[in-house]
Amino acid sequence: MMTVLGFAVWLALWCCLSLGTTTAQDPEVPANLTAVSSQTTTTSISVSWDVVGVAEEFLIYATCQHADCVNKTTSLHWNDCLEDTTATIADLTPGAFYSLAVAAQSGGQLSADSTTVMEQTDPVPPTNVTFDLANVTSLVVMWEQAEGVHDGYNLSCSSCEGERGMPLFLPDTEDRYQYDGLIRGQMYNFSIITVSGPKYSHPTEILQFIDPAPVKGISVLTTGSRNVSLEWQPPEGVYSHFIVKVTSDSGEDMVKSTSLNVTLVDLTPGTLYNFTVFTVSGDKESEGTEYGPVRTLEEPPGPVSNLTLVAPSSTMLQVSWQPPSEPNGVITSYTLRVRNSAVAEWNRTVTLVPADPTTTVSYTMMMAC
Ligand SMILES: *[C@@H]1O[C@H](CO)[C@@H](O)[C@H](O)[C@H]1NC(C)=O
Ligand SMILES: *[C@@H]1O[C@H](CO)[C@@H](O)[C@H](O)[C@H]1NC(C)=O
Ligand SMILES: *[C@@H]1O[C@H](CO)[C@@H](O)[C@H](O)[C@H]1NC(C)=O
Ligand SMILES: *[C@@H]1O[C@H](CO)[C@@H](O)[C@H](O)[C@H]1NC(C)=O
Ligand SMILES: *[C@@H]1O[C@H](CO)[C@@H](O)[C@H](O)[C@H]1NC(C)=O
Ligand SMILES: *[C@@H]1O[C@H](CO)[C@@H](O)[C@H](O)[C@H]1NC(C)=O
Ligand SMILES: *[C@@H]1O[C@H](CO)[C@@H](O)[C@H](O)[C@H]1NC(C)=O
Ligand SMILES: *[C@@H]1O[C@H](CO)[C@@H](O)[C@H](O)[C@H]1NC(C)=O
Ligand SMILES: *[C@@H]1O[C@H](CO)[C@@H](O)[C@H](O)[C@H]1NC(C)=O
Ligand SMILES: *[C@@H]1O[C@H](CO)[C@@H](O)[C@H](O)[C@H]1NC(C)=O
Ligand SMILES: *[C@@H]1O[C@H](CO)[C@@H](O)[C@H](O)[C@H]1NC(C)=O
Repeated sequence: MMTVLGFAVWLALWCCLSLGTTTAQDPEVPANLTAVSSQTTTTSISVSWDVVGVAEEFLIYATCQHADCVNKTTSLHWNDCLEDTTATIADLTPGAFYSLAVAAQSGGQLSADSTTVMEQTDPVPPTNVTFDLANVTSLVVMWEQAEGVHDGYNLSCSSCEGERGMPLFLPDTEDRYQYDGLIRGQMYNFSIITVSGPKYSHPTEILQFIDPAPVKGISVLTTGSRNVSLEWQPPEGVYSHFIVKVTSDSGEDMVKSTSLNVTLVDLTPGTLYNFTVFTVSGDKESEGTEYGPVRTLEEPPGPVSNLTLVAPSSTMLQVSWQPPSEPNGVITSYTLRVRNSAVAEWNRTVTLVPADPTTTVSYTMMMAC
């Protein structure tokens, strides 16, 4: 352990000594400058070179010829202990071609520049990519100029068919493109990349569902007292399912259907219903197509409720009741039958047509003594 530590101290000391003895010589031109392409980013380039003779510092120059492109000079302090002569030049312009050179400095003297190497920073995608639905089958993709240097943009529509599915090159001057004839209800994946010379940026994607089309031609297949079956024609384009809204005076309900028909159950007999069908695709819903009203078939009404009997005098009986809780249709009349409790047959029958079938009905009978 002691031996290893001792060696390290000795090595450091030797380095310092060797530095001290070599600073007086003139620096020589660095050799073998290369760009480390695998480390190139949108704003930085890394280069490495071989040291010839002595050096205290290296200056690395990155220059470009494009308008709106920044030049950079980076310095690297160096001594014999540093084996690695690699430097990263940061804050460069994206997509630009840079010419790179390195010079050595020692004892206040600067060497000539090395031979140059070319390297291009990676382009960046355009900023603020947005879209606008021009109408139900047209979408406009819009963007703002990408930062840095570029020739134009490649726009592609991965779910478009045929020609429109191929990448399309648009020159730098363009900032929008309209796709027409899209399929209603379809999900589209548009992507845009910046093109600069042979390089492409990462894509910016837009995933968008086109509004689905409403259904047409709704018809009733069967009407029961507690169920109704409907069917409709397929909408234009594509869809994932349908939502049927069932409306009556007592409220509304939503039913999902994956086919072109639906059977609505648990309905109330003799009741008016309206139906609205919506086409759904992804996160988008079409306008509703309405149908109705449809009246469910009637069933015999349930018993009247709150039947009360009072005798205002010895020869009079007043009967009142409220409509049944399950009318199962429209109440048109009530039939009142009377018999003496000692006799089996019904003695009297009265048919009453209520003025308003939803309110309390009263009937007063004169009774024989
Ligand atoms: C430059 O690279 C060549 C080939 O790898 C090598 O032979 C030469 O020694 C290098 N030059 C210096 C100064 O290291
Ligand atoms: C960068 O350097 C090049 C070469 O010296 C020069 O032509 C260009 O104008 C410089 N660009 C800027 C922005 O200074
Ligand atoms: C992005 O683009 C939209 C439409 O072109 C514009 O309204 C909005 O202000 C832009 N946003 C930014 C941050 O540039
Ligand atoms: C949508 O717009 C395009 C062009 O702007 C047009 O060709 C097409 O007919 C329009 N479609 C509808 C449904 O209005
Ligand atoms: C969208 O399209 C791009 C380019 O074709 C592809 O890389 C990406 O995976 C697609 N994304 C989806 C969600 O389909
Ligand atoms: C960019 O568009 C051009 C022209 O349409 C095409 O040849 C090239 O393959 C596209 N490149 C990419 C990466 O999309
Ligand atoms: C619908 O109601 C009728 C009676 O009105 C019944 O015969 C039929 O089975 C019901 N259908 C469904 C699917 O509930
Ligand atoms: C059914 O729709 C018609 C027409 O929109 C409306 O007048 C009626 O009140 C609706 N009935 C029900 C039960 O929602
Ligand atoms: C409803 O649609 C399904 C699927 O398309 C079909 O199998 C079924 O026969 C249809 N029902 C009626 C009553 O038409
Ligand atoms: C019967 O009378 C009670 C108390 O008056 C009332 O709460 C109830 O709603 C009535 N039933 C009907 C069906 O009207
Ligand atoms: C009903 O009964 C009363 C007495 O109980 C009787 O006078 C009357 O004739 C009966 N009416 C009918 C229609 O049988």
